[in-house]
Amino acid sequence: MYSVAMSDQNLMEKIVSLAKRRGFIFPGSEIYGGLSGIYDYGPLGVELRHNIKQHFWNKFIAERDDVYGMSAAILMPERVWEASGHTELFTDPLVECKMCHERVRADQSEAIAAHEASHKEKIEWSSPSVFNLLVETHLGASEKSATKVYLRGEITQGVHVNFKNVVDSMHPKIPFGIGQIGKAFRNEITPRDFIFRQREFEQMELQYYIRPDEEEGKRQFAFWKDFAFSWYQSLGFDKTHLRLRAHAPDERAHYAKDAWDIEYETPFGWKEAWGIHHRGDWDLRRHSEYSGHDLSYFDDSTGERFIPWDIECSGGVDRAVLFVLLEAYREDELGGEVRTYLALAPKIAPVKAMVSPLLKNKPELVQKAREVRKELQKVHPAIAWDDNGNIGKRYRRQDEIGTPFCVTVDFDTLGETPELKETVTLRYRDTGSQERLTIPEIAERIQAAVQ
Ligand code: GAP
Repeated sequence: MYSVAMSDQNLMEKIVSLAKRRGFIFPGSEIYGGLSGIYDYGPLGVELRHNIKQHFWNKFIAERDDVYGMSAAILMPERVWEASGHTELFTDPLVECKMCHERVRADQSEAIAAHEASHKEKIEWSSPSVFNLLVETHLGASEKSATKVYLRGEITQGVHVNFKNVVDSMHPKIPFGIGQIGKAFRNEITPRDFIFRQREFEQMELQYYIRPDEEEGKRQFAFWKDFAFSWYQSLGFDKTHLRLRAHAPDERAHYAKDAWDIEYETPFGWKEAWGIHHRGDWDLRRHSEYSGHDLSYFDDSTGERFIPWDIECSGGVDRAVLFVLLEAYREDELGGEVRTYLALAPKIAPVKAMVSPLLKNKPELVQKAREVRKELQKVHPAIAWDDNGNIGKRYRRQDEIGTPFCVTVDFDTLGETPELKETVTLRYRDTGSQERLTIPEIAERIQAAVQ
């Protein structure tokens, strides 16, 4: 159950405001007026994003014997994108307003309606034309010698162009995967919905190479579709807020034999969170042709040589950040006061626990609380300190950023009530309930929750 209805028209505004106020996400280069579709991550946002990426890395790469990680460069030569089909086919249909010459995506009826509403008179549109989304730049000292390069439009191609390097260095047995996390860039015509559609964003992907066989393709596709869905849910989503949707044949990207999206129910409708694509041999075959390097695989168990097929899992890091914030946002009443909190899964919460001395002007309490914090940091480094204002205010500040536990050191910890010596108060974010526990017990609770 959402505690703030998704139909709440203000939910996105509340998230955007909280994200800025509490140091999660800021408009990019804001003091210079910003750039549309570009955002910067603040101290808490960078932790949340890091935790999501780490969870991806652990489950899709580190814990598996059949997947390798890598990190390719952002800048790639034009030829890569000719081979991948992006220079020709990575396009959006555009129409231009004949009155003000602003361009809008022809396939986005809301953007068209919003633009029409911005004019007092009736406007006319040009007929649709295609617009390429790749972001280009030039490398080189002089205009004459400069080489045209592209900021990668998907992180995928960095993996495919290194296929032979990974095979030659790691000698993997097929099927095997190569995973990567990194920035991608698209000249989106209408970036919108906060960090949902940006021009610079981050992707987490797995390219899983298999034998070119229809049955194997179906089996692996089904496996990775389920795997990605369970993983996405484990970020803290209610299963009913996510769904899998097959692309219609005319909706598929140019490289896809089959494609499914994991979608999340946002206040602006069901939206793509993640894609699972059957890319067949499209990429390796095209890079073999365009580069002149043989990107086939030799299977020494069967003596066969072939170009593997690729099953791809591809998710947006920023979309995951937005969707977990939307999912976690809560408003309730606690102790007679309205409060806002983020019910984030502890493993992705930016701060795992906050330690606090009951009173900041009592050196013996402060010293003990510092020791407790150090002890808990052995379990996880993200244990915050807060001794500002009264304890209720400290709790509310942590609730708003999704900290699952607060720990308070008081005079009983020091032995004022002898049977409570060396115990502290543990307060739970979601219920506001509290209990008295020893420090090793609290360390255990945190350890269990953040796994
Ligand atoms: N390599 C396949 C690929 O890039 P995609 O469906 O274009 O496929 C994959 O992108 C994921 O990247 C999407 O599911 C989405 O989460 C994220 N994504 C794509 N475009 C985005 C944008 N403009 N802003 C933020 N995230 C985006």
